[in-house]
Amino acid sequence: MTVERRKLEHIDIISTKNVSHDYNYWDDVEIVQRSMPEVDFDEIDTSTKFLGRKLRLPLLISSMTGGHPETRKINENLARGAAEAGIAMGVGSERAAILNRKVGDSYSVVAEYDVPFRIANVGAPQLIRQSREALTDEEVGYAVDLVKADALAIHFNFVQELSQPEGDRNAKGVRSRVGELSRKYRVIAKETGAGFSVKDALDFKQLGVSAIDTGGRSGTSFAAVESMRSIKEGEDSRKRVGNTFWNWGIPSPISLLYCNVELPLIASGGIRSGLDVFRGLSMGASLGGLASTFLKAALQSDKEVVSLISRLEAELKSAMMLTGCSSINDIKKVKKIYRGRLLEWMNQS
Ligand SMILES: Cc1cc2nc3c(=O)[nH]c(=O)nc-3n(C[C@H](O)[C@H](O)[C@H](O)COP(=O)(O)O)c2cc1C
Repeated sequence: MTVERRKLEHIDIISTKNVSHDYNYWDDVEIVQRSMPEVDFDEIDTSTKFLGRKLRLPLLISSMTGGHPETRKINENLARGAAEAGIAMGVGSERAAILNRKVGDSYSVVAEYDVPFRIANVGAPQLIRQSREALTDEEVGYAVDLVKADALAIHFNFVQELSQPEGDRNAKGVRSRVGELSRKYRVIAKETGAGFSVKDALDFKQLGVSAIDTGGRSGTSFAAVESMRSIKEGEDSRKRVGNTFWNWGIPSPISLLYCNVELPLIASGGIRSGLDVFRGLSMGASLGGLASTFLKAALQSDKEVVSLISRLEAELKSAMMLTGCSSINDIKKVKKIYRGRLLEWMNQS
């Protein structure tokens, strides 16, 4: 199956089937509210800076798509919304355009809009030799230029690779490539739903990456997506690794805590609301990133994307008001109560 076809299958499966992890750990972060907050909702300032760029809201449309002509519209709807709302946006893995430059415009469409922070995307497994050659520096440069990117996300998705019969299985040498690329670009090390460990975060810091997108377990499970793909292909899904590893990974709030190495952090994996974004920010993130929630809106229209961002903004501002926060910086000081399965992880971390 071509990379392009696989992209469409992922979109179809994620928008129509339940492929989430079975537990959302953000629900275990409870916030202590104030009943007399001394804040005027209309004066709340949600603006923030991320890697030197000003955003109107601390939000990221996480990397998702591009690579097939049909995905151009999705990226365009997302870019329109991101530009109008003043938030950051990433595109999906750009390998498809590197292999077939004819599909480049399904990515480059985002550069036609005034998105305040654009993120290019390549996969860590593709930076090294697999059954085929590694991406060259020139090819990575093409991916960055294609979307006029402010930063390059290198995504880590080895659970997914292992869940695909055709997946990449070599991770030796990724470290040094991340280091090399971090000397050329502002690199964001990005997990895709299995979370980073403390050791990973310390490595990234040492390698010179600029930020970490902590992408933990709580939302979209790519092992589940691959398991669903096998069912669609008429296979017994139990034969696939993805079925067993559906709920594998470090919970999103724990990944965020593990990555506390004095780099800007993005909270992601299972963020569904402005309240979840607030929870992530209260635990040290600079931005909250959402993928599947935005996909469903973007499949409808640019208006749906804008309306989703308005809802996220209203929820974030409501949480800010109810905790006496009038600016984004205040959020870190808010008192939190950790409970349930999240607390089990915390107690043993
Ligand atoms: C349809 C779809 C395609 C994705 N493709 C990519 C990709 O190409 N590169 C990447 O870094 N992450 C990709 N992701 C992962 C997301 O960026 C995100 O890390 C993950 O879905 C968890 O966020 P969520 O729970 O809000 O969906 C994709 C997600 C979705 C929903």
